[in-house]
Amino acid sequence: MIIRPVRDSAADAAAVREVAAAAFGRPDTARRDGTAVPDARAVRHEARTRHLVRTDPQGCWVAEDGGRAVGAALSLRREGLWLLALLVVDPALQGKGVGRLLLQRAAAHGRGCLRGMLCASPSPAAARRYRLSGFTLHPAMQLRGPVDRAGLQDPGDIPVHPGGPGQLHLLDSVDRRLRGAAHGPDHGFMLAHFEELLVADSLAGSGYCYRDGGEVKLLAATSKRIAVRLLREALARVPEGTDALVEHLTADQEWAVDVGLEVGLTVGTRGYVALRGMRPPVPYLPDGAFL
Ligand SMILES: CC(C)(COP(=O)(O)OP(=O)(O)OC[C@H]1O[C@@H](n2cnc3c(N)ncnc32)[C@H](O)[C@@H]1OP(=O)(O)O)[C@@H](O)C(=O)NCCC(=O)NCCS
Repeated sequence: MIIRPVRDSAADAAAVREVAAAAFGRPDTARRDGTAVPDARAVRHEARTRHLVRTDPQGCWVAEDGGRAVGAALSLRREGLWLLALLVVDPALQGKGVGRLLLQRAAAHGRGCLRGMLCASPSPAAARRYRLSGFTLHPAMQLRGPVDRAGLQDPGDIPVHPGGPGQLHLLDSVDRRLRGAAHGPDHGFMLAHFEELLVADSLAGSGYCYRDGGEVKLLAATSKRIAVRLLREALARVPEGTDALVEHLTADQEWAVDVGLEVGLTVGTRGYVALRGMRPPVPYLPDGAFL
């Protein structure tokens, strides 16, 4: 088995997606002849891999056995913050140290970063690897279900409007204040791939979030009041008939749990937000990949 950098190629992006689908138990939709049909999520997964390979070529690694990808790690460095976007190993090879080797390579990309952040799956093997790498595991909740619009009747007095590329400096400033590092080039990717960006920028404070269908993807704000307003607005814009999903809430994000309860979402637990050298940013809901 060898561990080599992921290449900026369609073949490598597809290989990373396939090993991730196998590791998470989400097999690709297959045609009758057995070839995979890429759906929108698959296309985005591959585009995300290529984006990260371009911004962080030293952070993205694939484990190969007999010419076949059996594991992958994608990581990125943003202004002194190291982030892990993906760590997966083929189920047939799990528990044999491949994950440890991939994580070591990805972590070497973060050398010199005082802070680290990742959203961990519920996998006990992942929890073991991350804790042994010095991360504090913050158990995470998720909110899910149909939005009860009766809980959203009062829009509040803070204006929120759709945002775009003209606001990248504002987004980066909010990110730096919250987590000490901007998302930088990742905002371009999120703007292109998520349905909408919502921005609040008033004397009361600033903040933003992305919404994609029913999912609220990333939310950062300079105050809980702004964060509550943004989350309520994002949930109000979830299309009728689509379930909402808000993930990666640690106990520090009770303001978001309360909004979820107001609109009838169901609270559950899932995985961890794992942090090194920092406390959970508040009010902040990370994106699972760009964090
Ligand atoms: C998480 C994952 C990447 C780890 O890769 P791996 O190759 O299986 O990991 P390793 O073999 O290097 O290490 C796993 C460790 O957990 C331990 N472990 C495995 N299963 C375990 C379990 N059920 N309970 C407790 N520990 C467990 C192993 O003994 C090993 O510890 P050790 O090296 O100290 O002995 C891989 O299991 C995976 O792809 N899981 C599914 C996808 C996923 O959840 N990815 C993480 C996303 S955050």
